[in-house]
Amino acid sequence: MENVTTLGEFIIEKQQDFPGSSGEFSRILSGIRLASKVVSQQINKAGLLTDILGTAGSENIQGEQQQKLDVYANEQFIKALKYREVVCGIASEENDEFIVLNDNGKYVVAMDPLDGSSNIDVNVSVGTIFSIYRRLSPVGTPVTKADFLQKGTEQLAAGYVIYGSSTMLVYTTGSGVNGFTYDPGIGVFVLSHPNMKTTEDGKIYSLNEGNFYKSSKGIQEYVKYAQTIDPKTNRPLTGRYIGSLVADFHRNLIKGGIYIYPATSSSPNGKLRLLYECNPMGFIAEQAGGLASTGKQRVLEVIPTELHQRVPFFVGSKNMVEKAISFVKDE
Ligand code: AHG
Ligand code: MN
Ligand code: MN
Repeated sequence: MENVTTLGEFIIEKQQDFPGSSGEFSRILSGIRLASKVVSQQINKAGLLTDILGTAGSENIQGEQQQKLDVYANEQFIKALKYREVVCGIASEENDEFIVLNDNGKYVVAMDPLDGSSNIDVNVSVGTIFSIYRRLSPVGTPVTKADFLQKGTEQLAAGYVIYGSSTMLVYTTGSGVNGFTYDPGIGVFVLSHPNMKTTEDGKIYSLNEGNFYKSSKGIQEYVKYAQTIDPKTNRPLTGRYIGSLVADFHRNLIKGGIYIYPATSSSPNGKLRLLYECNPMGFIAEQAGGLASTGKQRVLEVIPTELHQRVPFFVGSKNMVEKAISFVKDE
């Protein structure tokens, strides 16, 4: 064990990269680390607990059924951040309005506490996505909506936790991407994937092809392109779609690929949420050498107008994203 770096040590080491940092920012990451262990533990035994599987009988602001674990994960992350007292507010996919925390906190957090939650009941990977900003309003006053409506380029940190065959926490503070695998035996995250980079090209495309006829001509043409045998490789691209953004993104980050959730006739802005999903994943993708686009512009440069705003999303290996958006840019 003498050669391992734990997430706790890593956070403290990296604190020195933020001159004048009082350690408050590190405390947010520690809160997220703790909540993700609690959620991971609960997800691992979800199949055993009849009272944690299934729907909670409520809907979130977007009219989606909330799963019991959505509600549970949301509570755990809010609690862990609240008690650290350095966060002045949280915007969560599961709450209609932002949550006001400590007025003296300097930071705000946007999160998707449980991504891909419809996959829990069938034992498929799910995740948590988070993003941290410095507040704009004065310290000592209640957090405002404007504190959350910042461009993705303003993110101080972003990351995700994947509850998969193992639990991993992957994050960036703007100087590369690092991945930590959870060792449940000793209860620590260990640096297993230092300085993650995604390849410029890849073989995998991930989108819900059931939406083919609800998608634009450009997207349909892209899907046909992906299915065409490439004379150089003598094969088409490989289709992989889990239906948990975190899991699809994580695989593509490691193997090289593209994830797309386009505009459709029923969801003209796509399905994924700018603050909770696209900006954090976009930041990580860029930090790993990839790209994130709405098809028209860099995701991180979209000026948010609403907390629960959605945008079409193209993310992954640089050349693959450039190719895909070339099909839709004039639409
Ligand atoms: P969430 O569970 O947080 O609502 O997110 C689900 C998202 C995303 O994880 C996934 O990629 C996408 O929805 C799947 O949507 P479709 O079922 O429409 O393909
Ligand atoms: Mn989600
Ligand atoms: Mn969710």
